[in-house]
Amino acid sequence: MEFYDVIEKRRSIRQFQNKPVPHDALIRILNAGLKAPSSNHQRQWELVTITDKATICDLAKIVKPYYCSIKDPKTPQQEMFKIAYPKQRSMIEESACVILPYFKCKYDLKNPSNDYGLMDFGAAWALTENILLAATAEGLGSVVHIPVKKEPAQIKEYMQVPDGYLLPAMIMLGYAAENTETPRQVQASAENKAHWNKW
Ligand SMILES: Cc1cc2nc3c(=O)[nH]c(=O)nc-3n(C[C@H](O)[C@H](O)[C@H](O)COP(=O)(O)O)c2cc1C
Repeated sequence: MEFYDVIEKRRSIRQFQNKPVPHDALIRILNAGLKAPSSNHQRQWELVTITDKATICDLAKIVKPYYCSIKDPKTPQQEMFKIAYPKQRSMIEESACVILPYFKCKYDLKNPSNDYGLMDFGAAWALTENILLAATAEGLGSVVHIPVKKEPAQIKEYMQVPDGYLLPAMIMLGYAAENTETPRQVQASAENKAHWNKW
């Protein structure tokens, strides 16, 4: 797929077919992630990649579906909440592959006096976006879930992750189900967002 078509085509997909992803496609996707730029040029990432359905379902149990009170969404953001919130667990369960892109971080991300941890965090997101785009190029749907509250610790324990690694996002991949629900996209383009030479 042509690069700009991939960019246009990528959407967050939260409903998947019950169909495995070929191993060679996963290898290409993981390698695309690992090509991302990293702040310290160390690429200190470890990609815990889960294709075993029982393990995926165990991981899904850690994440609760979120309640959404929006019945009649008026904005793309509200549409997204209405679609996404109730699917936080099922989108993991239905996925064919979960990638946990752990990154090594020796700084406390919640300590605002030290920005260095944010660089590692940023690099982990560069890797994550590469994975989402590569998955799109492979004809797959993808979505992220940000682990919050007790989820990071529970996932770390379940996956036996050593200390010193943080998880910016869970990445779910799979073949999109038919008629997936997707919200309208907020329109942003160079026309209304770029500021040339000065704000
Ligand atoms: C930093 C970040 C965090 C996100 N967290 C979640 C999440 O926890 N659960 C989810 O279903 N989608 C999550 N998303 C996906 C967004 O909801 C989605 O990108 C947005 O609604 C735009 O839709 P699109 O990806 O189809 O363009 C996240 C995306 C980003 C970049």
